[in-house]
Amino acid sequence: MKKLLIKTYGCQMNVYDSARMAELLAPIGYGPTEVAEDADMVILNTCHIREKASEKVYSELGRLKKLKDERQMTIAVAGCTAQAEGAEIIARAPQVDIVVGPQSYHRLPEMIAKIARRGGHALETDFPALEKFDALPKEIATEGVTAFLTVQEGCDKFCTFCVVPYTRGSEYSRPILAIEDEARRMVARGVREITLLGQNVNAFNGEGPDGKPWSLARLCDRLSRVEGLARIRYTTSHPRDMSDDLIAAHGDLEALMPYLHLPVQSGSNKILDAMNRQHTGDHYRDLVRRIRHARPDLALSSDFIVGFPGETDRDFEATLQLVRDVTFASAFSFKYSPRPGTPAAAARRQIPEEVKDARLQTLNMLLLEQQDGFKQSLAGRTLDVLFEKPGRHASQAIGRSPYLQSVHVDDAAHLIGEIRSIRVDGVFPNSLKGSFVPARKKVLAH
Ligand code: 5AD
Ligand code: SF4
Repeated sequence: MKKLLIKTYGCQMNVYDSARMAELLAPIGYGPTEVAEDADMVILNTCHIREKASEKVYSELGRLKKLKDERQMTIAVAGCTAQAEGAEIIARAPQVDIVVGPQSYHRLPEMIAKIARRGGHALETDFPALEKFDALPKEIATEGVTAFLTVQEGCDKFCTFCVVPYTRGSEYSRPILAIEDEARRMVARGVREITLLGQNVNAFNGEGPDGKPWSLARLCDRLSRVEGLARIRYTTSHPRDMSDDLIAAHGDLEALMPYLHLPVQSGSNKILDAMNRQHTGDHYRDLVRRIRHARPDLALSSDFIVGFPGETDRDFEATLQLVRDVTFASAFSFKYSPRPGTPAAAARRQIPEEVKDARLQTLNMLLLEQQDGFKQSLAGRTLDVLFEKPGRHASQAIGRSPYLQSVHVDDAAHLIGEIRSIRVDGVFPNSLKGSFVPARKKVLAH
């Protein structure tokens, strides 16, 4: 058995892709390892979203070169940096044998065979999304209680800062029946919670069993009927695609968790326009109001970019104001990073690094306050916890709340894969502590 190490960077879709790559290579004799020193093959599944993420691949390739100098090893670069940089990667790091983009990794077995036969390099960066999903093995090797399932890929929105439309290609939705089949296979392996993935997942319009396009809301409804599947989440969404039926689904479907990641990026209409987001700050406020009307306890999460070209102090203040108005349970904020080939990278009024740093710090302080406030609001409440894995102490298990916080509970190790009502006794920086709700004493009738 040869040993395969897959290192995954970036988003959850890369996590999904890495799992599929492992399944694809198992039949040709590759078993998993966690250590590069033992590996016969290393795949770096890369991210290109910001410069820092993208540069990581080269430092890792430097380390791998030293190992490869000493012994036989195949090195592959997959993911979005592979797609964006293609042959440049081999030019810059000739120790790389294979470069394969996110829509062509189903061809990995032939690529490996090709370099074994003829030596040299192999490169595939086409966009056959449909062919990829058809070519992936049907047998799912997922371990664990929660899993990701890609239902949609690519993006047609072309926000001016973003490389995704170029690295993942145009929007493609998988057919409903193929998704349902994969979900059932996951559930048969013990999965209880599935997060439906897509770069623009709420723009989903996959072919339904009736041959017509089905929305994400209809997909969620269909999956909520899969026996054994207790929880459904989806990510990432665009405010423009938050349709009425999806908003209603948050009120109607018990399996659909009350957590929504809905990136807004900025609160300034001028900047939102320059980003080509196709909505204003007030659209977003109104949207959130309608979603919370359908599901009052919904925990909202978002992404923010500070220091987008042309962002003034007033624009930044508008972002802070939107955060104060909306209140987020969690959030991710980034300094704008110019990406080669995107329109905003060519804009003249780039923001100095120290201004970006200061704004990021200010925004993060506000977001952390809100995040902390949300967690504190859970103290004393009773929540459904889905137990996922053993905890650090014997008999302890770690589960997740509907709002995605980790919850540690004693005497729960036998409950992995099950949901229980848990009272939150303690709130810590990265987790909650909970205990079983005592059975209610029967009130005796007089
Ligand atoms: N610079 C900084 N952040 C970016 N993001 C996407 N592109 C860039 C960029 N060029 C952020 C956005 C997006 C998240 C996945 O990454 O906030 O929602
Ligand atoms: Fe990128 Fe998301 Fe905008 Fe698409 S919608 S271009 S993935 S930020």
